[in-house]
Amino acid sequence: MNTELLINLSYIVSAILFVFGLKMLGSPATARRGNLFSSIGMLIAIVVTLTSKGLLPWENVIIGFIIGSTIGAFAARKVEMTGMPEMVALFNGFGGAASLLVGMVATYTTGNSTFVNITIILSILIGGVTLTGSIIAWGKLSERLPTKAIMFSGQQIFNGALVLAILASAVMFCQEPTNPQWLYAVLGLSLLFGVMAVIPIGGADMPVVIALLNSYSGLAACAAGFVLDNNLLIVAGALVGASGIILTNIMCKAMNRSLSNVLFSGFGAVTTSSTKVEGEVKPISADDAYLIMEAAQSVVFVPGYGMAVAQAQHVVRELADHLEDNGCDVKFAIHPVAGRMPGHMNVLLAEASVPYDQLVEMDDINPQLPNTDLAVVIGANDVVNPAANKDKGSPLYGMPVINVDEARTVFVLKRSMGSGFSGVDNPLFVGDNTRMLFGDAKESISHIVGEFKG
Ligand code: TAP
Repeated sequence: MNTELLINLSYIVSAILFVFGLKMLGSPATARRGNLFSSIGMLIAIVVTLTSKGLLPWENVIIGFIIGSTIGAFAARKVEMTGMPEMVALFNGFGGAASLLVGMVATYTTGNSTFVNITIILSILIGGVTLTGSIIAWGKLSERLPTKAIMFSGQQIFNGALVLAILASAVMFCQEPTNPQWLYAVLGLSLLFGVMAVIPIGGADMPVVIALLNSYSGLAACAAGFVLDNNLLIVAGALVGASGIILTNIMCKAMNRSLSNVLFSGFGAVTTSSTKVEGEVKPISADDAYLIMEAAQSVVFVPGYGMAVAQAQHVVRELADHLEDNGCDVKFAIHPVAGRMPGHMNVLLAEASVPYDQLVEMDDINPQLPNTDLAVVIGANDVVNPAANKDKGSPLYGMPVINVDEARTVFVLKRSMGSGFSGVDNPLFVGDNTRMLFGDAKESISHIVGEFKG
């Protein structure tokens, strides 16, 4: 069998593993296996590409593999679940940087066709925007940079001029590929454009931006695939590009906002809500909460970002087990943008071995809530804010939420009356049927579990 055929066959195996891996990531039950499949696909791709055509000796591949895997494994082990979106942002940035470097290096090959020159420009442009955009997104999410949207007058005109300058430099490069100044102009302007594109976006929208940048890193890799004439890089880049844009779309829908609204509205620059939340807050103690839980026939837990902060998922699972033993029907309601990353709650609950059939999507749980004895909100806020349904003046108006206020009784577990990530006040906390269980969610639930055990 000739080498070219062997390489292409290996690439087909890798591509199949990527596709099946991606498909499996769609369900918590198969996600781990999907991750493994995709990793094996990537391993095959790297080894075959680097050792074929005598590109690199085996020893170098093995040394690179050990260094890269050690850094990757260390970063993945060390990162807190709540820090995962920041890590993904950095990884996207590295992906963009890799494509950018491929584009830069390819210009050293003389006699490139116009098509290759265009793909070089695209690798540098998309890679550059992804690199600096991801660094800004990482800085905003980790609060190393101001999380608020940064807007200034004439911003859109400036950005428009930047795009025109990039286009003009790109055209000039294609006409004079031997003149490096146009290439450096595209590089510098693209890096600047990445910064300019992300600073007007508020911190609360960063997860959407990260999914979009993920898509860009795929497109940059796809362009780099054309530069190198590597079929697998084109396929893998296209898969990442397409899945990233689908995820972006799902998130926007879950917040009832268009992508252009996320990118250009400066949401979060103003944090005032028109909703004036007035009414009596009715606190409840963990002891009294236990008595109501013990009598409940149906309980729906609604986890949010605070459950991740408190790392309460294991005690929540324990509590759910006690309730079930008590003859109660237990479900977990999952909002698509609860937490800080897609599937955040699914991952946490899977970690605590909550059975998948207890997880119910928002659209399926909402009709069941009016017949539910007790909704227990664990560190969720924005995703259960009734103002999203009822208050036209609220910045959250129109966002689909879990209608916990329709349950017979609602417990809200949080530490204070503070607002959620959007900074919008929540009238649920003063609802007639709401009882506030103040304190760290893990401590409150551990106390109730202790009562059940007792
Ligand atoms: P949030 O609205 O951010 O509310 C989290 C709540 O958890 C806070 O109000 C906080 O209140 C409470 N909390 C924090 N630490 C706690 C602890 N140790 N114990 C108990 N409570 C604690 O969370 P959410 O409801 O999950 O909403 C997610 C937000 O992120 C939405 O605005 C959504 O649009 C946005 N977003 C998410 C995504 C994805 S993909 N998930 C994407 C884009 C945007 P206290 O400080 O009073 O305790």
